[in-house]
Amino acid sequence: MEIRAGVTVILGLLCLLKMVESRSISAAYTNTVDVEYTGMGTCRKHSAALTEFGGVGDGKTSNTKAFKAAIDHLSQYASDGGALLLVPPGKWLTGSFNLTSHFTLFLHKDAVVLASQDESEWPHVEVLPSYGRGRDAPGGRFSSLIFGTNLTDVVITGNNGTIDGQGSTWWDKFRQDKLNATRPYMIEIMYSNQIQISNLTLINSPSWFVHPVYSSDIIIQWLTILAPIDSPNTDGIDPDSCSNTLIEDCFIVSGDDCIAVKSGWDGYGIRFGMPTKQLAIRRLNCISPDSATIALGSEMSGGIQDVRAEDINALNTQSGVRIKTAVGRGGYVKDIFARNMEFKTMKYVFWMTGSYGSHPDPQFDPKALPLIQNINYQDVKAENVTYSARLDGIEGDTFKGICISNADITLTEKPKELQWNCTNVEGVTSNVNPKACDLLPEKEEKFDCPFPEDKLPIDDVQLKTCSSIVQY
Ligand SMILES: *[C@@H]1O[C@H](CO)[C@@H](O)[C@H](O)[C@H]1NC(C)=O
Ligand SMILES: *[C@@H]1O[C@H](CO)[C@@H](O)[C@H](O)[C@H]1NC(C)=O
Ligand SMILES: *[C@@H]1O[C@H](CO)[C@@H](O)[C@H](O)[C@H]1NC(C)=O
Ligand SMILES: *[C@@H]1O[C@H](CO)[C@@H](O)[C@H](O)[C@H]1NC(C)=O
Ligand SMILES: *[C@@H]1O[C@H](CO)[C@@H](O)[C@H](O)[C@H]1NC(C)=O
Ligand SMILES: *[C@@H]1O[C@H](CO)[C@@H](O)[C@H](O)[C@H]1NC(C)=O
Ligand SMILES: *[C@@H]1O[C@H](CO)[C@@H](O)[C@H](O)[C@H]1NC(C)=O
Repeated sequence: MEIRAGVTVILGLLCLLKMVESRSISAAYTNTVDVEYTGMGTCRKHSAALTEFGGVGDGKTSNTKAFKAAIDHLSQYASDGGALLLVPPGKWLTGSFNLTSHFTLFLHKDAVVLASQDESEWPHVEVLPSYGRGRDAPGGRFSSLIFGTNLTDVVITGNNGTIDGQGSTWWDKFRQDKLNATRPYMIEIMYSNQIQISNLTLINSPSWFVHPVYSSDIIIQWLTILAPIDSPNTDGIDPDSCSNTLIEDCFIVSGDDCIAVKSGWDGYGIRFGMPTKQLAIRRLNCISPDSATIALGSEMSGGIQDVRAEDINALNTQSGVRIKTAVGRGGYVKDIFARNMEFKTMKYVFWMTGSYGSHPDPQFDPKALPLIQNINYQDVKAENVTYSARLDGIEGDTFKGICISNADITLTEKPKELQWNCTNVEGVTSNVNPKACDLLPEKEEKFDCPFPEDKLPIDDVQLKTCSSIVQY
């Protein structure tokens, strides 16, 4: 009896051991990766892979819960050195998820995050206070795929891993007017500071791609952003009521503006009163046949000030640095500087529009006139151009202090006769060919339009090399 019992116990133990062993084998990490990146915040003390939280990278299983579980778990380290979440190689289908502070989301080069096309995977969130309602729909808005609010020190990066918004179903629903809320953006970070978004390929967003709003101290670099050139509202990067922002080395192909600088809409934006200021944009490459390389507006009611754009290249794009505004917008666009721009195949090199339609409410304030002032363009080369300029100010609200120097424009085979069409604008030009309109007289003595020599605070931020060993 005793021996038998002993054997049974031993057999039982062996069984248990075997179970434990096989469990640990099935859960064993077969891969280890040394994740290295240059980060804006502090390097992270903790790390984990999405697979530790039940993530399945088969392109079919929903990972919405896995992302939530992972980030909820890692948020406990926010005050203990921060954490990094690795998205390993694979195709990770997910709905909207929320970020946390002192956090890095890192996409392996062979990781593809696929946005779910199931509306129930996308919670509705409050409309933006500076917009008054969802931008295209009266019924509020969907949360973005990757959303963060009231955060500090967040990095979204990778070795050029991909986020695929799978936007086509959203575009179709939008065109067929089947949505009662505004389409989700790909990445939206709100009321936050110290944000870095870098080294990723972003494709086919349902709507705008990258939307930092009411935030500051932002670096966006080395992004490849791609959407079909006829896709609706697929703006590349939209800094919106943000300060101290750097956007550099991005390549953007879009159905809308490559970069659109914003600050709220009509009365809502005026009341909210939060400008976009201290924005540097460098080494941008853009393709957007129906929109601007860089748009300022049309939602600019909280003001746009101190934008510095340089080394800008665009191919087959409707316009360069365009101002869009309207009566009712209020606010201002002032102290804008752009230099060293090269354009090939463009409809309007210089375009300012004072009668941009679209209002959140029909009862906008007709006395809310925008102030457009001190707009400077230096060193512009453009080939195969249809119109050199169309500059439409607002009657009784002249766009003032426009300066254009050293612009060399070559026209298409059949150029329009009126190359410079100017109304309600005032300024000067130097060394501009073809010659500008009478409202922008050429100065006899050649000069360069100004460009600030000082640095923005964001230029002084030192990026650190961070590395973590992560198993998955
Ligand atoms: C993310 O946070 C927002 C605001 O707190 C909330 O409304 C939304 O439901 C959250 N999204 C998810 C997926 O939990
Ligand atoms: C986020 O910050 C804004 C602005 O400071 C504040 O109004 C809001 O209540 C904060 N939200 C949360 C969830 O803390
Ligand atoms: C990000 O891109 C830059 C430029 O290509 C490169 O030097 C850097 O190594 C990249 N970082 C990562 C983490 O891949
Ligand atoms: C990142 O991937 C995109 C898309 O495949 C590619 O066009 C781009 O050149 C890549 N960038 C880098 C730095 O490797
Ligand atoms: C959205 O619109 C659909 C179809 O028009 C309707 O059935 C549904 O109830 C609406 N949902 C909300 C939240 O308004
Ligand atoms: C010049 O621009 C026109 C559009 O105005 C376009 O059809 C044509 O292909 C362009 N030519 C070249 C050489 O890029
Ligand atoms: C010039 O611009 C005005 C608007 O300010 C427009 O009405 C007019 O048609 C334009 N003229 C030409 C020839 O394009």
